[in-house]
Amino acid sequence: MQTGFNIDTDQPVRRMPGLQVNDISDVLGAEIIGLDVTNDAVEAEWDRIQALLRNRHVLVFRNQELTEAGLEKFARRFGDLERSVTQRADGTIAPPVHMITNLDAEGKPSRTPYVNSNYFWHSDRAFFPTGSAMVLLYGVEMPPGGGGDTQFANMILAYEGLSDADKALVANLRVLHSFEHMRETLMKRPLSELERSVAPPPSLHPLVRTDPVTGRKSLLLGMYACEIDGMPRDEGRALLKRLEEHATRPDFVYTHRWQERDFIIWDNLCLMHRALPNFEMDKHRRIMMRCGVTSTAIIR
Ligand code: SIN
Repeated sequence: MQTGFNIDTDQPVRRMPGLQVNDISDVLGAEIIGLDVTNDAVEAEWDRIQALLRNRHVLVFRNQELTEAGLEKFARRFGDLERSVTQRADGTIAPPVHMITNLDAEGKPSRTPYVNSNYFWHSDRAFFPTGSAMVLLYGVEMPPGGGGDTQFANMILAYEGLSDADKALVANLRVLHSFEHMRETLMKRPLSELERSVAPPPSLHPLVRTDPVTGRKSLLLGMYACEIDGMPRDEGRALLKRLEEHATRPDFVYTHRWQERDFIIWDNLCLMHRALPNFEMDKHRRIMMRCGVTSTAIIR
């Protein structure tokens, strides 16, 4: 598939000897077939993987057999792993490599899982000064018959697709991103004392973020965005809603229909993502193994 994307790198990203690399949509994403991410031979492909991730933003490694230790080892190649701030139903804070599920507090499949924030558009940890650099997700148990897809919105294309008037409108706006806002509005559960002790206070970020390496601009939106600095709350929320509707138009979105043993990594800072509740959530389990890699740079 020809994408029209510029390659922001001089790495020969399409030439991994013995491997197959295919674009998976017009808006983002590539699949890599024939590479075992747990094998140290991955080291030889490292520069190419990183270049491909910068260029395509989402990489799908097909046919992986991942344990928690295997995921952790691969993730650490990219940087430090994040500590979670979400308290689970058993009262503990999830470890860096953890499961995201559609289970309720009793461990049963549910339409209202104990943690449901993955079903809303977001950029992970936007309420931190740095956000997450990247996220890694492995489908451990998917609903039989399909569904439980993950969608990604390309926020670079979303920015570039704004009208000139909207580009001027958002150019210098800053947005407050809050974990507590998300919890109260979407999960309808206040922060626990434990969560309050590990989560940072809300962070103010530019609405238009500039990638420090490529210089490309993207929109930073999603479920943690609660108000626009200096704008009446309702007016700010209405603008955030309008921009999110623009950014999640089908022409900026890729929907990943999971195949067995898919492993996905993505550049969190130029995308939004969400899971789709398009399966029988109260009948079937959807278990994903996840971890995030910290970003070292404050979002600008
Ligand atoms: C996430 O929000 O980090 C995971 C998305 C998913 O569950 O597909």
